[in-house]
Amino acid sequence: ADEPLVLGIETSCDETGVGIVRGTTLLADAVASSVNDHARFGGVVPEIASRAHLEAMVPTIQRALDTAGIKASDLDGIAVTAGPGLAGALLVGVSAAKAYAWALDKPLYGVNHLASHICVDQLEHGRLPEPTMALLVSGGHSSLLLTGDITADVRPLGATIDDAAGEAFDKVARVLGLGFPGGPVVDRRAREGDRKAIHFPRGLSGPKDPEYDFSFSGLKTAVARWVEAKRRAGEEVPIADVAASFQEAVTDVLTRKAIKACKDHDVDHLMIGGGVAANSRLRALAEQRCERAGIRLRVPRPGLCTDNGAMVAALGAEMVWRNREPSAFDLSADSSLPL
Ligand code: KG4
Ligand code: ZN
Repeated sequence: ADEPLVLGIETSCDETGVGIVRGTTLLADAVASSVNDHARFGGVVPEIASRAHLEAMVPTIQRALDTAGIKASDLDGIAVTAGPGLAGALLVGVSAAKAYAWALDKPLYGVNHLASHICVDQLEHGRLPEPTMALLVSGGHSSLLLTGDITADVRPLGATIDDAAGEAFDKVARVLGLGFPGGPVVDRRAREGDRKAIHFPRGLSGPKDPEYDFSFSGLKTAVARWVEAKRRAGEEVPIADVAASFQEAVTDVLTRKAIKACKDHDVDHLMIGGGVAANSRLRALAEQRCERAGIRLRVPRPGLCTDNGAMVAALGAEMVWRNREPSAFDLSADSSLPL
């Protein structure tokens, strides 16, 4: 059978993403970001994101079609992030997807943002083995998900009980005066630092703590207190060492719990996705520890880890491939869509 040709639209946060795939082959990945419009507020402002999506939507779809060199009439389906995410932002994507699907007479597929962060790996490493353990770490989520059929069977084992991993990076960057978003800059500064310089707490790592849940707000507070004490004493804050030590605490817990989940559930493939999966220390540590544990590691390239349209198209193609029922045209955006 021919591999399904699918266009995917992602607008759950601040990136307007439009991707086009044929099966597991990436043909186009166009992204317009409003990240710079939010920087001076220190975080994503929902209303600004929605307006930016509205302006960028049609040109970004056009750019993706041009890059892929296909005719919209040849598409087998239009997929769109239905949630979770910012309600107003999601609504722009869902409305656009409906309009294109209706006008082109193509099936519409509303998909889950978290599942598409996992499915995107198929564009780089081929079909996901069943089962695969997925560690999903982004600005809004930090979860361990036991994954079978990615369109129907994604079982949450644990999640953060407070801040998401990316949120912790963003908050620590703010404390250090490094700007927004914090992940990439903390990652960069950490390279010149000593990750053993300061021992920051590893949340929920005690023997009686839930095995697959995460907590990063205590860590964030510990970093803020440490920096504050230095400043109060009139000492210089060793930014690179703080960045490296904080990053070590986050990635240590993430990799340890992910590998434990694999072992406990007898799963020998670990996939890491979401914006924080772009982190260089997380990638290196995961590689090291997976190798030692005999677990096969799959991490998409950084550009596919952060929000994009290709991941939505990848999951849409999987839905077509598996003959899943398309969404009805009353599909609505759901800011807290469960898996
Ligand atoms: O998946 P994503 O693009 O959007 C959400 O669905 O949240 O993730 C964005 C998050 C931000 O918190 C950002 O700081 C973080 O991913 N991030 C990183 C890196 N690149 C992006 N965190 C750590 N290291 C990075 N290199
Ligand atoms: Zn995301």
